[in-house]
Parts: sequence; structure tokens; C-alpha cells
Amino acid sequence: MPRDPLLDTIAQTPPATLVDPFQRTIRYLRVSVTDRCDFRCVYCMSEDMTFLPKAEILTLEELDRICRVFVRLGVEKLRLTGGEPLVRRNILWLVESLGQQVQSGALHDLTLTTNGSRLAIHADALAACGVRRVNVSLDTLRPDRFKAITRWGDYGKVMEGVRTAKAAGLAVKINCVALKGVNDDEFHDLVAWCGEQGFDLTFIEVMPLGDIDGDGGGQARVDQFLPLSVVRAELAKRWTLTESDHRTGGPARYVTVAETGQRLGFITPLTHNFCESCNRVRLTCTGTLFMCLGQEDAADLRTPLRRNPNDDGPLIDAIREAITRKPKGHDFVISRRRRDPAVSRHMSVTGG
Ligand code: 5AD
Ligand code: SF4
Repeated sequence: MPRDPLLDTIAQTPPATLVDPFQRTIRYLRVSVTDRCDFRCVYCMSEDMTFLPKAEILTLEELDRICRVFVRLGVEKLRLTGGEPLVRRNILWLVESLGQQVQSGALHDLTLTTNGSRLAIHADALAACGVRRVNVSLDTLRPDRFKAITRWGDYGKVMEGVRTAKAAGLAVKINCVALKGVNDDEFHDLVAWCGEQGFDLTFIEVMPLGDIDGDGGGQARVDQFLPLSVVRAELAKRWTLTESDHRTGGPARYVTVAETGQRLGFITPLTHNFCESCNRVRLTCTGTLFMCLGQEDAADLRTPLRRNPNDDGPLIDAIREAITRKPKGHDFVISRRRRDPAVSRHMSVTGG
């Protein structure tokens, strides 16, 4: 039988973009390249974490392959997270490879979220690869407090990292988790410091992800929980905050600080409904795809990836199938009645 010309047309057509059942087009992939970290932040990890065995972890080549497939399927923005992405051995190889996708125009934005501990070493190389922005997690400007929050972190190294990133021309955004009774007397200082440095700043509400202190994560989080409405009201006493229409498709809402000209974001996953504009999915370092940060449902991409080393078809099918299951919204609860974390995996597994 002669070959149907339609088949050739289909074979040549680039695969269509990923659209979920709620008509949200997936443009943003966050990739956790490792579950390991050189810090042990009190709200994120326990001190004696058990990490994944190496066989479970995708190689950098495998991560690169999945990312390229997502870019073919319409993903325009890619963020590397962890754990701490810069502790993964040879991570610059992956950044360089993905950087080629930026140079070719297929990828618009390649960024990473880091704790800053190794930025002084890597910032210049990151910039050379095509990274233009980094998010640095920094909850305090006081060295002693920094030690108390991160347990293992070195404040001086992070500050040096931030300085190097700035000097390398990277736009720096500071992420600060707002913690009641821990750093809630420093928010004005952080706004002022970011203003001086030319950094944007985003406050994050503490989220119920993973057991951190052996009691199911409940009590510590109830005690630390600080609604960002309170933070914003406090900041408005000293700064002129004007509403901004800047949107990233994520949970952050932005204002501009008139006095500094910098953007200020608030990520309120618990108190704000942002799911209707969600354009993102998350890949773990084991090749598990989470369609929503706040839901357990996931898809295994490692099996189709490893079974078909020379054929991306099954991987693409698995991704498409997963996207049909992207839920309408999340289901986070921190309440005094519900002590267990709503989602048992740690942030360091799925990436922030
Ligand atoms: N709640 C809120 N933010 C968290 N992060 C890690 N764990 C939590 C949590 N339970 C933050 C980090 C970093 C970002 C990636 O996620 O501080 O800024
Ligand atoms: Fe590491 Fe970030 Fe978790 Fe802190 S919050 S332990 S820096 S992954």
C-alpha cells in the first residue's frame, strides 16, 4: 500500500505544545538536579537526612535529554533547583548544554535557585553559559542568625557569592522565607539592603513540605507560620508599595518599592489562590514529574527514558499523559488540627 502523505506531514510537524485540561499551556519546567544540599535549613531539612542512592538519580545526560524534549514541547523557561544545584558534580556541563538552547532561541530563560554557597566559584561560568538571573535564598543579614537557620551555612561565603554574581552581570533576586520569631524583625533591613544592591526581593510563606523535626513537621510550622499579609502591612509603614502587574505564572504577586525602585514579591501559596494561572511542572532528579507542588500525583519519566535510549517517542507520550492529569489546584493546609505535613516529600526533592 502506498504511504499516506499525511503521515509524512505529521512526522515533520513539530510536536504541539503541552496544554492541560484547564487550558493552561505549560511553559515552565523546574528541574531539581539533586536532593542534596550543603545546608540544613531548619524549615527544610532535618539534620540527619537520608539522600537518594546514586542509581536512582538521572545522569546529567539524561536530565539534558528530558529538558530538551520539554523545550521541543514548548517549554520556554527552565529553572535548575535542588537541594542545592551547585553541589551536583559537573553541573556546569548541564548548564552549558542547556545554554546552547538559549543561544539557539529555543529557550528564553535559563535560571537557577541556589543557596549561594558556591556562587563565588561558579558565577562567571554561569554567566558565560547564558544564565542571566539567579535566585539566592537568604533569610537573614545577620551571620549568627544565618548559622541558626541554615545550621551548616557560611554567611561570608554566601555574601561573597552574591557579590560575585552581581559583578558577573547576573540579575540577583533574593528569596526570603518569612519566619515568625526568627527573622521577622529584619524585613525592613532586607528591603533596604536589596534596594542598595539593586536586587529584587521575594518573601515566601513557610510551606508544609516534609518532616523537619520528627513530629510530622506540624508544631514547628504552626509556630513559624507568618502570613505575608502581616509582612506586607508592616513594610507598608515605612515603604511606598505600588501594585505591579508583573506576573510569572507562579504564586508570586509583586509590588514596586518606590524608594528603591526594586520589585518586591510575595509568595503566598497557603493564603492566595494562584493555581488558575499555573504554567509550570516540576521534575525531580529521579525523573519523576510532579504536575503540582501541592499534590502527590506524579509520573515516572525515568522508565520510558531509560528503556528507549534512541527514541524520544515514549518519553513524549509519558509527558503528554502526565499533563492530562495536572490538577486544577493545590491542597496545602497548615492548621492546628492537621499536624502532619500536607505533602510528605521535602522541598529539596521537588525543588522550590
Ligand atoms: N517553606 C517555604 N519555603 C521553603 N524553602 C525550602 N523549604 C521551604 C518551606 N518548607 C525555600 C528555600 C528557597 C526556596 C527554593 O524554597 O528557602 O528559598
Ligand atoms: Fe538547602 Fe535550600 Fe533546603 Fe536550605 S532551603 S537546606 S539551602 S535546599
